[in-house]
Amino acid sequence: MSISMDGQVAIVTGAGRGLGRSHALALAARGAKLVVNDLGDENSVSENANAVVAEIVAAGGEAIAHGVSVADNAQVEDMVAKTMEKWGRVDILINNAGILRDKTFQKMALDDFRLVIEVHLMGTVNCTKAVWDIMREQQYGRVVFTTSSTGLYGNFGQANYGAAKMAVVGLMNTLHLEGSKYNIRVNCLAPAAGTAMTDGLMPQAVFDLLTPESVSPGVVFLASENAPSRAILCAGGGSFAVHKSFETQGISLLPDNVTAEGIADAWDAISNEDGMQDLQAGFEQTTKFAKLGAAKMGIDLGG
Ligand SMILES: NC(=O)c1ccc[n+]([C@@H]2O[C@H](COP(=O)([O-])OP(=O)(O)OC[C@H]3O[C@@H](n4cnc5c(N)ncnc54)[C@H](O)[C@@H]3O)[C@@H](O)[C@H]2O)c1
Repeated sequence: MSISMDGQVAIVTGAGRGLGRSHALALAARGAKLVVNDLGDENSVSENANAVVAEIVAAGGEAIAHGVSVADNAQVEDMVAKTMEKWGRVDILINNAGILRDKTFQKMALDDFRLVIEVHLMGTVNCTKAVWDIMREQQYGRVVFTTSSTGLYGNFGQANYGAAKMAVVGLMNTLHLEGSKYNIRVNCLAPAAGTAMTDGLMPQAVFDLLTPESVSPGVVFLASENAPSRAILCAGGGSFAVHKSFETQGISLLPDNVTAEGIADAWDAISNEDGMQDLQAGFEQTTKFAKLGAAKMGIDLGG
């Protein structure tokens, strides 16, 4: 099955270099018209974004640059307004822009915590909010958030980054539910790539293997018409995996053991992985607990 994005309009944030640049070039190669966003100077000019636009145009594509911060909502709204003026629609939004402010939690200033949340979480919220009504009206939208193995699993010295990266997973879970009736699909990418962000953090041979270009086919897939929704696609060096979160079946401690000691005594059963479930919405957990308790107590829940 070949994937075409002819006639579609895509916004990629933080696309002046690294993964974002590679995603923008890959989407443009499929025929999409690109808005290449990256941090700009005081005149909102991003030399890196301009260079990516020039590459796309030289290859026969269409692109414009927007040199502003995703953390500034007014500027994000301006970016989307300019996109609508030029092309009249937004089919694809790739939230990729990001920064690091690494320190152990003990040494981390709260301002650095807030800054990372502002760029990764609120930047993603700002951009997604700015295109949401447009995608609803079009009855079409493909939105990708960039999470990280740090959010999914943790990483020493990255409390702010990990919290922000897991926050976008929570955002995806609900926007998937709210967007599905409008044919808006929302997914996460968890990339691993040799870029300015990871320079010096991995051996050279690993850095060279984990190219941004080997990740971007994952973004093209998540942005395509037949994309899944609510998936977390992990990608690095041409290898791909899916992250899922499972919940154990659990047990009811009713009627006599609903105590901290009861939980301690039953810990093996509570955390037993047999029959683990990939719950699709928060209320499925509520329903499960109601059923477990009712079964234990012989209560008829009706329905
Ligand atoms: N490289 C990896 O292994 C890796 C792993 C997990 C997640 N990620 C995520 O992938 C994304 C891309 O990372 P990368 O490795 O290409 O990093 P990078 O530093 O090479 O590129 C990030 C780009 O985002 C831009 N940017 C930063 N703040 C911005 C803002 N407020 N508004 C607009 N643009 C902004 C930067 O100018 C830069 O061009 C980030 O969200 C990062 O957290 C990367």
